[in-house]
Amino acid sequence: MPQAPLLTLNNGNTIPAVGFGTYPMKDQEVETAVKAALLTGYRLIDTAASYENEPGVGNALQASEIKRKDIFLSTKLRGAEQGYDKARHALDASLQRLNVEYVDLYLIHWPLPAQDLYVESWKAMIAAQKEGKIRSIGVSNFQEAHLERLIQETGVTPAVNQIELHVDFPQTSMLAVNKRLGILTQGWTPLGKGLMDNPTLVRLSEKHNRSPGQIMLRWATQLPAIPLPKSGNPDRMRANLEIFDFTLDADDLAAIAKLDSNNRLGGNPDTYEEF
Ligand SMILES: NC(=O)c1ccc[n+]([C@@H]2O[C@H](COP(=O)([O-])OP(=O)(O)OC[C@H]3O[C@@H](n4cnc5c(N)ncnc54)[C@H](OP(=O)(O)O)[C@@H]3O)[C@@H](O)[C@H]2O)c1
Repeated sequence: MPQAPLLTLNNGNTIPAVGFGTYPMKDQEVETAVKAALLTGYRLIDTAASYENEPGVGNALQASEIKRKDIFLSTKLRGAEQGYDKARHALDASLQRLNVEYVDLYLIHWPLPAQDLYVESWKAMIAAQKEGKIRSIGVSNFQEAHLERLIQETGVTPAVNQIELHVDFPQTSMLAVNKRLGILTQGWTPLGKGLMDNPTLVRLSEKHNRSPGQIMLRWATQLPAIPLPKSGNPDRMRANLEIFDFTLDADDLAAIAKLDSNNRLGGNPDTYEEF
């Protein structure tokens, strides 16, 4: 069974080097997919309150023979629930929907600077972590200024920043910021869009006898970042985890670096509104 190696977060906790994305699956679909992902070897499951699939994820965990302590479960605080009191309640509601006593990672989903509530939300997460409801706390889609402010106002550095990351949007400067601050980067939409026929990726896939998807995920792990591929297909699910028995060399990485076209697919965190 393929397994991702473990990385160590800035608080000493460990996290698998690849995770399973669950958006936009819901209900029975997500339950079936997470069950299959756990059987395939995934140990990091990424969900969010806003995906409205936490009960299905929780059902899959309950049904699994894998011990809770061996699964790294991550969920996120949605925009409408930012603020100290709301964030405290939102976490409890996520724990209830997931049917677990703690999550391994809780992320502020988006900074929403226009709301200006992320520092208060962060303080609520620090308190909940002390109570044992969360093992590690982090953020998603945070820019440098948002990170600096959290750290300056609370003294607590996020363990993780989950950002959009694919070969044509490699976020080189955000990766450097995360690294400088000791924050581990997770990458969402790690397969990008419309990249499977890209000539560079096809060439590298032939060179390494891997699929273009595997080349992109291996690239992410070598940055290093934790990619979170989503697949409802058991064969692709497995392939997305079977990426640790080959290595992209300097020439491969230089060729992939040329694919950077600053092709952001999702929202710009400085202006994006999420509720
Ligand atoms: N923090 C955030 O703001 C944020 C935003 C977006 C997403 N996310 C997280 O990141 C996860 C991944 O992002 P994503 O779902 O947008 O994109 P993705 O994982 O890069 O791509 C998923 C798509 O690629 C297909 N696919 C999967 N493996 C493949 C392979 N090996 N070859 C070819 N196609 C493949 C999937 O179809 P099949 O299912 O048919 O295989 C699906 O259509 C989400 O599920 C979510 O957990 C977070």
